[in-house]
Amino acid sequence: MKVLLTGAAGQLGQALLAARPAEVEMIATSRSGGAGMMALDLGDSSACRAAVLEHRPHWVINAGAYTAVDRAEGEPELAHAVNAGAPVAFARALAETGGRLLQLSTDFVFDGTQGSPYRPEQPVNPLGVYGASKAAGETAAQQLLPAQSLCILRTSWVYGPVGNNFVRTMLRLHRERAASGQPLLVVADQVGCPTATPGLAQACWAAAMQGTGGIHHWCDAGAASWYDFAVAIGEIGTAAGLLPQAADVRPITTTDYPTPAQRPSYSLLDCITTRIALGLDAQHWRKALTEVLQMHKEMGAGE
Ligand SMILES: NC(=O)c1ccc[n+]([C@@H]2O[C@H](COP(=O)([O-])OP(=O)(O)OC[C@H]3O[C@@H](n4cnc5c(N)ncnc54)[C@H](OP(=O)(O)O)[C@@H]3O)[C@@H](O)[C@H]2O)c1
Repeated sequence: MKVLLTGAAGQLGQALLAARPAEVEMIATSRSGGAGMMALDLGDSSACRAAVLEHRPHWVINAGAYTAVDRAEGEPELAHAVNAGAPVAFARALAETGGRLLQLSTDFVFDGTQGSPYRPEQPVNPLGVYGASKAAGETAAQQLLPAQSLCILRTSWVYGPVGNNFVRTMLRLHRERAASGQPLLVVADQVGCPTATPGLAQACWAAAMQGTGGIHHWCDAGAASWYDFAVAIGEIGTAAGLLPQAADVRPITTTDYPTPAQRPSYSLLDCITTRIALGLDAQHWRKALTEVLQMHKEMGAGE
């Protein structure tokens, strides 16, 4: 099976490369190429189309994205070009070649006002530019590809052992604040679910290998606020020997920490139908966090 992967240098892309099934012939792409990767700018629709027509992959796994949620508010054209333009170009080309698209998407397509987990078939209503651009990519791809040729996999609060993410930032802040005696203030009124890249990559590969179509949700199990997540990073990071001690984490509200992009306050995704469809169980997020922090330690990458 031939797979064209975008965003191969990103968090999920790296986990997908690490977990690549032996039978997969991989064409890994990143924005600038190098390190065995082909250069592919997701903002260039012609280049996305040409890559599909040249390589004729069975699947495009579109893990690349404009993921800077706050910056997107000031760069809506670029966010839409990458997050909607690329899936449109891939979908159009794949409709011609007979290939399939695995489009990664996000809990930010929902407004977070429902108060119970969002099911895959529920209507989207994004709050900000990033969520709107991802939702536009989903919708357009659905119009261009038959259901069995398109798998939309939404996830949330992604982190892994490499890349920029909340866990790496919190490890640094725990270390700095514990040393200075300053508290670490973290938002406690946004609830979602942290999702580790190794499990998410496993779900992506299961979907590709099984030829899964439709809209799906994959997150680790359980729920957390950013405050809960930060406390757990301190506790587990200390127990793992990554931190000399945890900082004093204190809860604050979203209004205490204004950001350019409005975020959904409750963006849990209902993943049950996806777990059944893929035949995979998700780990509780604390267990997945423990494993990722162990990977940090083994890589000597605690910051
Ligand atoms: N991170 C999250 O919390 C989260 C939550 C829900 C869903 N998702 C979705 O999950 C997927 C994987 O996310 P991730 O966490 O792995 O993101 P990531 O670490 O930010 O990786 C995204 C990759 O896309 C690349 N990229 C951005 N613009 C590009 C362009 N114009 N051309 C080529 N490559 C470009 C980035 O390259 P540069 O580094 O050069 O910019 C980066 O390597 C994305 O579809 C994202 O929308 C993420």
